[in-house]
Amino acid sequence: SVYDCPVIPLNKIHSRAGNITIAEVHTGIPFDIQRVYYLYDIPGGESRGGHAHKELYQIIVAVGGGFDILLDDGRNKKVVRLNRPDFGLMIVPGIWRELMDFTSGAVCMVMASLKYDEKDYIREYSDFQQLMK
Ligand code: TYD
Repeated sequence: SVYDCPVIPLNKIHSRAGNITIAEVHTGIPFDIQRVYYLYDIPGGESRGGHAHKELYQIIVAVGGGFDILLDDGRNKKVVRLNRPDFGLMIVPGIWRELMDFTSGAVCMVMASLKYDEKDYIREYSDFQQLMK
C-alpha cells in the first residue's frame, strides 16, 4: 500500500567543500540495485510515470530541484514532495505513480531492483484497478 512507501533518509558526508551521499547495497538500500536511471530536461508542466509495476522496487531521489510524486494503491492516495538529495522515496510493487510539478532543471534519479522489462509495467489505469481488487 502507499503506507509501505516511506521517505528514507540517506547518508550525507558534509565538508567545507560540499556534501556527498552514497547509496550502497545492504547499507540502507533494502534491495540489490540492478539499474539506475535519471530523468532530466523535463519541460515545465510535464508529468511522467503514469504506470505501476508488478515486481519492481524503486528508490526515487531528487538529486537536483524538486517534484511531486502522487502514489496510489487503488484505495489510498498520497502525495510526496521530493526536493532534497539526501532523502529517497521507496516505491514498492503495485503502486500507481505520477511525477509532476518539476522545478526547472530538476533531476530525478531512480535506483531499481530489476533491469528494464516492459512486461513488469501496468500502463493502463483500468488494468491496475482490476488487478488491485
Ligand atoms: P517510462 O518508464 O515509461 O518513463 P516515465 O515513467 O519516466 O515516464 O519509460 C520511457 C521510455 O524509456 C519507454 O519507452 C521505455 C524506455 N525505458 C528503457 O528502455 N529502459 C529503462 O530503464 C526505462 C526506465 C525506460
